[in-house]
Amino acid sequence: MNKTFISTAIDYVNAFPHIGHALEKIFADVFARRERLLGKEVFFLSGTDENSLKNVRAAEKAGVSVSEFVNKNTEKFFELKKAFNLSYDDFIKTTEERHVLGAQKLWHACEKDIFKKIYSGLYCVACETFYKEDELKDDCCPIHLTKPEFVEEENYFFRLSKYQDYLEDLVEKEKIKIIPQSRKNEILSFINGGLEDICVSRSSERAGEWGIDVPGDPSQKIWVWFDALANYITALDFGENGDKFQNWWQNNDRKIHVVGKDILKFHAVYWPAMLFSAGLNPPNIIFAHGFITVGGQKISKSLGNVIDPFELAEKYGADGVRYFFLAEFPMAEDGDFTYEKFEQRYNSDLANGVGNLFERVLTMVLKYGVENIEPAGADQAILDLCSQTEKSYSGKMANFQFYDALKDVLLFVGAMDKYINNKKPWSLLDDKSDQTKEILSDLMFSLEKIIFWLKPFMPSKMGKTENYLKNLGEQKEKLNLFPRIQ
Ligand code: ME8
Ligand code: MG
Repeated sequence: MNKTFISTAIDYVNAFPHIGHALEKIFADVFARRERLLGKEVFFLSGTDENSLKNVRAAEKAGVSVSEFVNKNTEKFFELKKAFNLSYDDFIKTTEERHVLGAQKLWHACEKDIFKKIYSGLYCVACETFYKEDELKDDCCPIHLTKPEFVEEENYFFRLSKYQDYLEDLVEKEKIKIIPQSRKNEILSFINGGLEDICVSRSSERAGEWGIDVPGDPSQKIWVWFDALANYITALDFGENGDKFQNWWQNNDRKIHVVGKDILKFHAVYWPAMLFSAGLNPPNIIFAHGFITVGGQKISKSLGNVIDPFELAEKYGADGVRYFFLAEFPMAEDGDFTYEKFEQRYNSDLANGVGNLFERVLTMVLKYGVENIEPAGADQAILDLCSQTEKSYSGKMANFQFYDALKDVLLFVGAMDKYINNKKPWSLLDDKSDQTKEILSDLMFSLEKIIFWLKPFMPSKMGKTENYLKNLGEQKEKLNLFPRIQ
């Protein structure tokens, strides 16, 4: 398995990005970077979901045309790439021609399962989906806690019910592996509860004339979820059946979607059914991450707790923020951000932990002047601990357990500190003995490992450190990796 396709959700652009959006993209980026470091070929995809009704409504409120509004906000989402050093290989916008072409082609490919029906239902615009009455919480959307809108229309439906058994088998037998397990169970019980056919279009009028036409029927627009899910293949030139599509989708058993827990159902149920109907292969892994709150509360404009991710990156640097998001809580669970938590973790793990260790070792090495950084075997115990850490770290990284992987690295950093305290190599620097040289060699070897482990998390700082070590003899200034936040 030498290639990995990995995608994030494509964000609605009804407002500027918040830290929840940044968190997801950083998480996927860490995985993409780790895979590349392991020598795999990677296609890392992100983008924006532009054809939604909520974008239309937000544009109306702002008093500008939808296309102007969407373009401006999409720019901001794209800027996350630079601000957080995200290594996307492609970024798709669903108003692009390649996407429109591909989404309509997918519709055609599913046509045997698409039929027209007059119906009525309750639609949550924030979720862009219908809810059944028994799914509501006090008559409100269970996610947004707002009243859904009553809709009565003749629309196109997709025969999801037909794929009940197929989907159950897919999820149950982990032909699509849903991580974490608890989310897999949630999806299984949703499927077992009985699948109903889903509405996959809306009248152009209700859509505000915005969106992708149903092929052959311009009075209807393709439902935004049908449209948005298609992005994963339209970005691979599905519309033109390009080589990219064959190479990265059809002939690749390592296709990974990273999405939030609120949109898992669309990815683990609707999407594989659409693909199967169209005669295409399903994704292989879906990782559902939790939500980040700010000061224990849902991020919301009305609460005034929206934190601008750009300000955060500007203030603390991309790497510090990337590290915090992944070290503070397991991604499969929910987590919380406060400035206090951020500064505390930065200082304890990075300034006093990793940064301090590097400084300690490099100060001694520079004084002593060691070139050789191969493991010298001065202390088998530390080398053993290093390879144990590597093994444990690798297993956790492969399973998306970045929080645990970072714990391993930090434990190792602590062990190195103790090792130095015990060996007191600084007291041996003057005697230039082989033993001193061996100890320092082991320490340098360990630092190189730490760099390799932390590189997916903090690509910029670790890249800089790597270069610093390459020309260690010529360095005039201290490395000063993570200056303490006062
Ligand atoms: O759902 N913490 O877009 P979106 C963590 N366009 N993740 C969060 C979050 C938070 N507080 N808030 C949102 C959509 N997210 C669709 C996706 S994919 C074909 C279409 C995550 O802008 C959310 O879970 O509402 C989702 O994965 C992503 O941000 C985009 O959310
Ligand atoms: Mg959302």
